[in-house]
Amino acid sequence: MVAKNWVTRFPGIENRAYMANCSQGPPSVDVQQALADYMRGWLEKGNPWDEWMEAVGNASSAFALLIRAKKEEVCPTFTVSNALSEILSCYDFSERNEIVISDSDFPSTTTVALAQERRGCTVRIVSSRNGKCALDDYEKSINDKTLMVILCEVTSYNGFKHDARAMAEIAHSKGAKLFVDSYQSAGNSVIDVKRSDVDFLATGTQKYLLGIPGSAYLYVREDLIQTLEPSFTGWFSQRDPFKFGRTRTEYAPDANRFQSGTWSVASHYAANAGIKIILEVGDQVVQDHITQLTGYLLERLNEHELKPVSVFDDTERGAFVSIKVPNSHSVEEQLRKYRIHTSARGDGIRFALHFFNTKEDIDKGLETLQKVLKD
Ligand SMILES: Cc1ncc(COP(=O)(O)O)c(C=O)c1O
Repeated sequence: MVAKNWVTRFPGIENRAYMANCSQGPPSVDVQQALADYMRGWLEKGNPWDEWMEAVGNASSAFALLIRAKKEEVCPTFTVSNALSEILSCYDFSERNEIVISDSDFPSTTTVALAQERRGCTVRIVSSRNGKCALDDYEKSINDKTLMVILCEVTSYNGFKHDARAMAEIAHSKGAKLFVDSYQSAGNSVIDVKRSDVDFLATGTQKYLLGIPGSAYLYVREDLIQTLEPSFTGWFSQRDPFKFGRTRTEYAPDANRFQSGTWSVASHYAANAGIKIILEVGDQVVQDHITQLTGYLLERLNEHELKPVSVFDDTERGAFVSIKVPNSHSVEEQLRKYRIHTSARGDGIRFALHFFNTKEDIDKGLETLQKVLKD
């Protein structure tokens, strides 16, 4: 059993049904230990920057391993917003000047895309239908002016999962690049950037990667790295960040050229420990377990006369199911009182599952939800 073996490593889920993973993963012993290590270094050594640099590098390498990239293709950053801004700052929109994104993307990437309009870019927003954004609809919006397609692999509203590999094929066939926001897929599914052939991918670390806010990682396909020079930048993008009296930029030869300034070191300590848990369990095991649980949850919904916000089959379903409720934020609050942790979004309450969740969590969650809705 995947779930039972792990309870002792997650004191934050003991006697709770923790299903808020699409918002914030629960604290593990491993992450607590990593943060304590960071604190100890700070207390005992004051400014152990060599150690901290190594720790940030290790976390970035652990993420590279998880997504089956080379460590030189990944760099640490702060947020998905930052990662996308860093990449878009490499382009001047003189040849291709359009970005394609959908109305179901997270506001962070949409905001960054729209901000490029001041720089001469046109943003085409693809509309979703029945909770899904079809690849055909993306395809109709891509043309020989499209610089980049931005794809939210799993949407945070209803958990619809896009096929990143198929999207990459479509984008590339029209000469466009693909940037994937994998915030709602990293840590709960198998990501293989070589197989999917995406150009860029970014994710933050506090959700299914089990870390805390403040860190994110950006993947850039190896052959693109040296063709790109960001203007959204900082000293850690340079071949020698510590060179003072600089009179010209000299970007690092690897993905570190997309870095900016000093990292949130503590957050990378946490991220490293969180990612290692996913590597230890195995992403395929995690994915299979979650697919089973979300399937079970959907079956049980009928019995409770509850409805999902949207219905998808196994291959189109991310790691959560959003259940239609009135006043979702107040429902989230009410459920928390019964130690059921979920996450409200719009007209739904999200039950977001991870490898440590069980069918009992779902049963308890649905029974309590029904009670809360009747009260
Ligand atoms: C799909 C998705 N993208 C992006 C974000 C956040 O973006 P950022 O890292 O820019 O805060 C979230 C949630 O916080 C998300 O669910």
